[in-house]
Amino acid sequence: MKGMVFTEFLDMVEETFSIDMVDDIIDAANPKSGGAYTSVGVYDHQELVDMVMALSERTEIAPEALVKAFGQHLFKVFFKKYPSFFKGVSDSFTFLSSVEDFIHPEVLKLYPDAQLPRFDCEREGDTLTMTYHSSRHFSDLAEGLILGCALHYGENVQVKRESLDENSTRFQITRC
Ligand code: HEM
Repeated sequence: MKGMVFTEFLDMVEETFSIDMVDDIIDAANPKSGGAYTSVGVYDHQELVDMVMALSERTEIAPEALVKAFGQHLFKVFFKKYPSFFKGVSDSFTFLSSVEDFIHPEVLKLYPDAQLPRFDCEREGDTLTMTYHSSRHFSDLAEGLILGCALHYGENVQVKRESLDENSTRFQITRC
């Protein structure tokens, strides 16, 4: 997984908790890479999962909630870092529908070693169905990004999720 995801996660931990918490969870996770993450590096996604578990133990916040909050944080980072992906897009459904066919393919051009999920999207009126497929099991991150996107466009949405199999989760996003 790209180093940017790790550095942004640790930035969020520092902002929300403290720099000591950052040191603590890196120590506890004892990552193979050594834990000196840089945005240009590539690291095993399991190291992120291990740090989330360590943070969860120390804060008594469920890992799912931590990853979801991180997804919302990451969406704000993407908006700052990649303004071109937002040009001419004025609502969350248009944006979310472009992740599979436009945004992630562009990400892959920038970072050929990126490991990205697949999304199948279907839109029917006020409901967008996004089915997430990935062996990395970051559906909580996907949900956080979806909520971050709705927040960004100032929209109220309800997200229902259903696990289809080990690697797939269906999100039903309804605008209210
Ligand atoms: C400007 C918008 C976006 C950018 C620039 C972006 C870029 C990226 C990047 C760089 C990664 C890391 C790849 C790696 O570590 O190898 C990633 C992963 C991921 N992205 Fe996006 N993304 C965007 C929007 C979204 C949205 C809106 C969603 C959800 C609907 C999403 C879902 C995910 C998930 C779940 C992963 C984790 C990898 C996995 O599950 O297999 N992304 N994205």
